Amino acid sequence: MNFKNILNNPIFKILKESVAEIGLKSYIVGGYVRDLIIKNSNKKDIDIVVVGSGIELAKKVKKKLNNTNKIQIFKSYGTAMLKWNDVTMEFVGSRKESYSDSSRNPKISFGTLQEDLLRRDFTINTMAISLNEENYGNLIDPFKGVLDLKNQIIKTPLDPLKTFSDDPLRMLRAIRFCNQLNFKIEANSLKAITQNSDRISIITNERIVDELNKILECKKPSTGFIILEKTGLLKKIIPELSNLKGVDEIEGKTHKENFFHTLEVVDNISRHTDNLWLKWAALLHDIGKPLTKKFNKKVGWTFHGHESVGAKMVYQIFKRLKMPLNDKMKYVQRLVFMSSRPIILSENEVTDAAVRRLVFDSGELLEDLICLCEADITTKNPKRFLQYHENFKIIREKINIVEERDRIRNFQPPISGKKIMAYFGIEPCDKVGIIKETIKEAILEGEISNKYSDALTLMKKKGLEMGLKPNENKL
Ligand code: CTP
Repeated sequence: MNFKNILNNPIFKILKESVAEIGLKSYIVGGYVRDLIIKNSNKKDIDIVVVGSGIELAKKVKKKLNNTNKIQIFKSYGTAMLKWNDVTMEFVGSRKESYSDSSRNPKISFGTLQEDLLRRDFTINTMAISLNEENYGNLIDPFKGVLDLKNQIIKTPLDPLKTFSDDPLRMLRAIRFCNQLNFKIEANSLKAITQNSDRISIITNERIVDELNKILECKKPSTGFIILEKTGLLKKIIPELSNLKGVDEIEGKTHKENFFHTLEVVDNISRHTDNLWLKWAALLHDIGKPLTKKFNKKVGWTFHGHESVGAKMVYQIFKRLKMPLNDKMKYVQRLVFMSSRPIILSENEVTDAAVRRLVFDSGELLEDLICLCEADITTKNPKRFLQYHENFKIIREKINIVEERDRIRNFQPPISGKKIMAYFGIEPCDKVGIIKETIKEAILEGEISNKYSDALTLMKKKGLEMGLKPNENKL
């Protein structure tokens, strides 16, 4: 197989010339080759293996490109990284590696191309394309990567126990590739993941989260999460999710199986959004259920307060996984906290007041919250399924009507605290808050409209009731 006509990016011409000039055998390897064969041309990372050190080639390429970007050099690894437009090139000296049991830091020594390819994770990532003059564009495929790509198999080139033990992150990569590409993990490799799952503990949280995010970004993330669970990895990474598994039964009463329900919700939402954080909210929306589960003889199983417990758990999980504790985390927390609100609405007759309260409480999260709640409809009862979706349509219509009329979103009180203080001649105190709250509640309940004149009348009435003295000149 030859790829000389497919290497369209002008960068390859420069690479070829540079390789010829420095006279070190060099090859494109890894994901770029894999994606080229499966005709995915979006990849912007090009990994280049140089038999020798990668640094000299990187310098030559930089010069030829008149590239003003700085080369990042990692001398002890013989590695250099160069950015050019939206392309990132990594130049690595060919090597063989072995890892110790307790560390991710390999002992590195020089190796041949074949040895370099053999130490890689999966056969589909062990192919190389020559950048050398004599066989430019030729595919080198010593471990039958093309065949495995064709058969849609994720398989390690070495004994999987060794490959996974060398770098346990590869267990997550296997599951992620399986999910992304819709491939199968070969039986021995899958078995080895289960056997090695404890070793995930030596991997940094940042790298783990990176893979989890890539699984969540797939079209059907449940595929990945089911394998994570089956292999025992999920229990090590997010045990709170594994705890959602199972159904209890007392006096013939059961509750929903929350693990598979959760995955169904994540799949549902993935059909409507690429928003990674909305997907995290879907993944964690029921996370508080195991801790709040109770059996009540009259009503059966309850999960009272699981949303607020769940919101607290979001913080703990993000913190443990060293995910950023920023507004993304707060967004996920708020969605988990509010995740039952629209559902309750959809089960009953939808009143204007309930819609106004939902709009007020969710603010700019409203669309995402409704999207999450629609994804949360996983009932297998077709009549209820239809009814809930129908109710959500009504909710959406009502939101539009109420919003147009009452402008509740990003609610600003029609009367300010300053005005209340001036009119009644009072200093800042709880009375100001009580009057403001009374006006807000009346607007949300639909007792008055969201207008200055109505709010003013109510302010006067409430102030009188509280024994305050009006001052008409201060209006
Ligand atoms: N690799 C490996 N073990 C890892 C990570 C990477 O053997 N834990 C090898 C694989 O050959 C891989 C190459 O290094 O193809 C480049 O790694 P990376 O850029 O992380 O992944 P890609 O395969 O390019 O795919 P993606 O960008 O989707 O992660």
